[in-house]
Amino acid sequence: MPYLDWTDAMSVHVADIDDQHKVLFSLINNLNYSLKKGKTTGELRLGLLKTLSYAVLHFRTEENLMRKYDYPDTDDHMTEHAKFVRRLKDCLDHSYGSAGCQPKDLMDFMRTWALEHELKLDHKYADHIAVKNKSQFEPSSGPGGPDHVG
Ligand SMILES: [Fe+2]
Ligand SMILES: [Fe+2]
Repeated sequence: MPYLDWTDAMSVHVADIDDQHKVLFSLINNLNYSLKKGKTTGELRLGLLKTLSYAVLHFRTEENLMRKYDYPDTDDHMTEHAKFVRRLKDCLDHSYGSAGCQPKDLMDFMRTWALEHELKLDHKYADHIAVKNKSQFEPSSGPGGPDHVG
C-alpha cells in the first residue's frame, strides 16, 4: 500500500485539481520510497525540492480558481498553503537533517498535511465552486427565466 493513497473520496470533482493532487501524492510517495531505500541526502533534497516546486504550482492553480469563484475563505486557505511551503523551504534552506527537519519528520509532516488539507480545506472550496456552477445554470427569474412572459 502506498505511503499516501489517493482514493475517490478525495476527489474535489475538478479534473485538473484531482490530477494535480495525484501527482503531488506520487511525488511524496517517491520521496518516501527513496528514504526507505537509503538514498543520499543530496538525492532526498532533490526529491524534496521537486515536491516543493510542484506544490507551489498546485497552490497557485487552486488560488487562481478560488479567486475566480470569489471563494470567501481564500486568504485563510492561502495561509495554509504558505505554512506548507515555509516548513519545507526553511528546512531546505537552513537545517535539513537537523531536529524537526529530518527526512522522516518532513515525510510525516507532508503526509499529515496533505491528508488533512485535501480532505477538509480543498473540499470546502470545491463545494463552493460546485454551488456557484449549479446556480449559474439554474433558471433565473430574469429575462429568459421561467417568470418571463412574452
Ligand atoms: Fe490541493
Ligand atoms: Fe489547497
